[in-house]
Amino acid sequence: MYYFKNSEIAETYHVSVKTVSNWINAAKNGKLNISLYDVENKSYVANTARNMAILKNLAQERRKYRNTRSYKEITPTPEFYELFSRRQVVAIINSLELHRELPRQFTYMGDGAEAWNKYSIKLANSSQRDNSLLNTIELLRENHTAISTILQDYDKIDVVDLGVGNAIPVKDLLDRLLRQDSLGRYVAVDVSSSMIEIAKRNIAKWFGGKIDFVSEVKDITYDRMDEILATNIYRSPSDCKIANLILLLGGTINNSMSTENTLRMIRSGMSANDIFVTAFKLDTPNSRRYFDYNVGPEIRKLSSMYDNIFNLMNLFKVDFALEADYDPIKRMRYERIRLNEDLSIKFICDKREHIVNFNKNDTILLLRIWHKSSIELLNEFDRCGLEILHAAITNDGEYLLQVHRVKQEKF
Ligand SMILES: C[S@@+](CC[C@H](N)C(=O)[O-])C[C@H]1O[C@@H](n2cnc3c(N)ncnc32)[C@H](O)[C@@H]1O
Repeated sequence: MYYFKNSEIAETYHVSVKTVSNWINAAKNGKLNISLYDVENKSYVANTARNMAILKNLAQERRKYRNTRSYKEITPTPEFYELFSRRQVVAIINSLELHRELPRQFTYMGDGAEAWNKYSIKLANSSQRDNSLLNTIELLRENHTAISTILQDYDKIDVVDLGVGNAIPVKDLLDRLLRQDSLGRYVAVDVSSSMIEIAKRNIAKWFGGKIDFVSEVKDITYDRMDEILATNIYRSPSDCKIANLILLLGGTINNSMSTENTLRMIRSGMSANDIFVTAFKLDTPNSRRYFDYNVGPEIRKLSSMYDNIFNLMNLFKVDFALEADYDPIKRMRYERIRLNEDLSIKFICDKREHIVNFNKNDTILLLRIWHKSSIELLNEFDRCGLEILHAAITNDGEYLLQVHRVKQEKF
C-alpha cells in the first residue's frame, strides 16, 4: 500500500481519527512536513519511513501537551503490588501499552477468585441446562468409557487440571476414577492461588482425605508444564504405570491472545504417556449472542469479576463505557471499556515510574473469546503437534470435547 488509512494511523499511534485528519490538513496547509498521497480527491499520509518517524514524534508530543481539564491520572494501589508479582506487573504494563488489553487471567487473582466461584455456582445451579459448565460435565460423563479405554494400559491416572477454577467440572470424573481405583494424584494448576484454595476446599469437602491433592501456581500462557507433567515418570514404581490425564476446561484457552502459542507451550511439556482433554464452546449463531458473565441476574453491566482488578488499579475513577459484542472479522466475542477521557496509568517498578497513556475514545480489552468451528479446532491442535484420539459434540452442536496425545514425529 502506498499510503496509510487514517484509522490505521489512529490505531498504531493511539490517537483519534480526528487528530490524523488535523495532521493531514496541517500538511496540506504547509504547516506540517509530512508527504501526502492523493486518491480520488482525498489525501492520505504516504507510506514512507520518514513519515512514520514524524508521526511517532507527533503522537509523543501530543501526549506531553494533552488537555489537563479532561485528563485523568490514576496510580494502582499498594495492594496491587502485593497481589501481583514483578513479572506479572510487567506483563500488565506491556499488555496495556502494546495491545490495549488487561490480561484476563489476572482478573481471577485475589478476590476475583470468589467472583468466578459465585458465577460458576450460578451456572451449576441453573435450570437452563445449555451453559458451558453443565455441558462440560455431561461431555466428560458421556465420554468416560472412551477416555478409560485410551488409558487402559495404565495402572494409575494423575489428573492434571490446567486452570482449575473451583474444580466443580471434575467432581464427577474424580469420583468415577476413585471408584475404579485408578486415580493417582489430582494436580490443580492455576495462575491464581486464591482459586486453588477454593478448589482445595471443595475437594476436601466432597472427598474427605481420599484424594491426593497437589497444586502449582503457573501461567499456562508462558510457564512450561514439563516439571509438573514429568513427576508421574519419576513417581512410577517399575510395576505401576502412571499416565497424566491433562484437562483444560471452561474455554480458558480461548481467552489467550494466541491459542496456538499456549497449546505449543502445553504440548512441549507432554510425554508419550499423557493425554490432553479439552472442552470448547463452538462457533454457532447462538454462541455469538452469549454475553451473560454476571454473577447476579443483571445483564450487560461490568461483571463483578472485574471489581477486584479495577479497584486495585483505581480504574473505577475513570469515566468509561462498557462495550460487549461479537466481532465478525476477528471472530471473537469481546468485552472492553471505551474511555471517555484521556488517561495515564502511573505504575511504579522498582521505585521508577512507568506511565501508560491512553487517549479519549481508546479501548481497553477485558475479555476475548475466540470463535472456532470443530474442524478449525482440530486443525489448530494438529498444527500444534497434537494428534486427535477421540472427539464428541453435544446433540445441540454447541460444545466439543477433544482427546489428544502428542504426535510422535521424526525430524
Ligand atoms: C474460565 S475459568 C475455568 C475454570 C474451570 N476449568 C471450569 O471449567 O470451570 C478459568 C480458570 O483458569 C485460570 N486461568 C485463567 N487464565 C490462566 C492462565 N493463563 N494460566 C493459568 N490459569 C489460568 C483462572 O484463574 C480460572 O481458575
